[in-house]
Amino acid sequence: MRVLFVTSECYPLVKTGGLADVAGALPLALADDGVDARVLLPAYPGVRDQLQGARRVATLPDVFGGPAGLVHGTTVDGLHVWLLDAPHLFARKGGGPYTGPDGRDWPDNHVRFAALSWVGAHVATQGVGRWKPHVVHLHDWQSALTAAYLRFGPQPAPPSLLTIHNLAFQGVFGLDIAAQLRLPPAATHDDGMEYWGNLSFLKAGVLWSTRLNTVSPTYAREILGNEQGMGLDGLLRTRAHELSGIVNGIDDTVWDPATDPHIAHHYSVHKLPAKAANKTALQHELGLHVRPDAPLVCVISRLSWQKGLDLLLGALPRLLAAGGQLALLGSGDRDLEAGFRHAAVSHPGRVAAVVGYDEPLAHRLQAGSDAVLMPSRFEPCGLSQLYGLRYGTLPVVARVGGLADTVIDANEAALRDGVATGFQFSPVDTDSLAVALERVCDLYPDRTAWQRVQRRAMSRDVGWATAARSYVALYHRLAGEAAASTSR
Ligand code: ADP
Ligand code: GLC
Repeated sequence: MRVLFVTSECYPLVKTGGLADVAGALPLALADDGVDARVLLPAYPGVRDQLQGARRVATLPDVFGGPAGLVHGTTVDGLHVWLLDAPHLFARKGGGPYTGPDGRDWPDNHVRFAALSWVGAHVATQGVGRWKPHVVHLHDWQSALTAAYLRFGPQPAPPSLLTIHNLAFQGVFGLDIAAQLRLPPAATHDDGMEYWGNLSFLKAGVLWSTRLNTVSPTYAREILGNEQGMGLDGLLRTRAHELSGIVNGIDDTVWDPATDPHIAHHYSVHKLPAKAANKTALQHELGLHVRPDAPLVCVISRLSWQKGLDLLLGALPRLLAAGGQLALLGSGDRDLEAGFRHAAVSHPGRVAAVVGYDEPLAHRLQAGSDAVLMPSRFEPCGLSQLYGLRYGTLPVVARVGGLADTVIDANEAALRDGVATGFQFSPVDTDSLAVALERVCDLYPDRTAWQRVQRRAMSRDVGWATAARSYVALYHRLAGEAAASTSR
């Protein structure tokens, strides 16, 4: 079975969030199940230099306004990657994959990700050399248009699976770009990808992918409703029987407290006391009072409305009053950045805020904190709570989406039965969040009970094997259906 991943991010080459972690880890996990999964990714600056044996394997004379090529290489982990080397679209100084140095979206993102999708469809139908996929696996709006090119392009085309990592990002652009997309008028009309007077790349994916999934069963249910459906719930309901939820795994070689190269003191479920030295080191590093008895709660997150961190600013006084400390690493919304900087200045030794993106610090926070907080208003899956489980850093999460599916609340019954792995709260508001933080501070001094929850959390299987098997089953089903329909 050969599967082509088309994605805009892939760890360790380029990452802005969880999508990169998934696109980097799932293909490797699939190899254990006999699937040859390869990744197509834009050649952003610096990405080619990270590939081993990088060489150009194909030339594409005209990719949306300029010549391009495919560069093949492998990552340090042996993942096969094709880079879409289109300098006119992706070789840009400063900024990131989606935004320029001024923090605004690149003005031609519709062309950049239409091009990625168009090349995705090209590779899917033509192959590269002798490699041709049985199934194409798309991720979010940035590659969703691949489904349109497969639907309206040369037939037969392989079946596609669209994974929705986040319905809030839909790739919506004005109708005036329609002529640039290299799609027939039927594709952009109102029974096509037209969306409230605009065009939506994600809608194209939802319409024309052979099958859909999202990254947890609860989120798969939530997006069928008006509240979380982000305007696409009506369309999603028409495809509900073709939509499933598969909880992400984590790369447990990158996230393993027993071997993590970013942390000073290695530990495991069998060597739990060694975790404490990481807390001391972290408190030193961040200028927090070095107090083993103060429950240290961390946040590692994009700072956006989705993540609910404005609620934390409101609940912070109650965490501090209960004796807790806060360490935050994040970037995004300017007001939230300023709010947490201000909180750190107002509460020296008890609140630390690092504004920025820092992968090694994310590991030190997971290792050195007692709890990791995710007060998300919605969360398709969430990865930081899974890293928290693995690091014995108890997740404190809003009861939504993948957070609801992956954490067992430390209520009385769960504590008694020894099944608790963290803390959940609902509704997602300041008061319930504050109550959850107070519960953390209440349980923390009971070392026996706390460590029991830690051990249970660390013993949870959060690797990719289970999810990979579910994806393999989907791929086989898709490939089987495609074979049956061509032989009819
Ligand atoms: P999302 O993809 O919605 O941002 P996830 O929980 O799925 O949320 O994944 C977030 C990923 O990004 C995790 O690997 C987390 O460690 C990482 N991350 C988020 N913000 C930062 C940051 N400021 N510095 C380092 N890593 C970060
Ligand atoms: C998105 C979601 C997050 C999920 C990640 C990987 O960024 O916001 O919940 O974990 O994708 O699937």
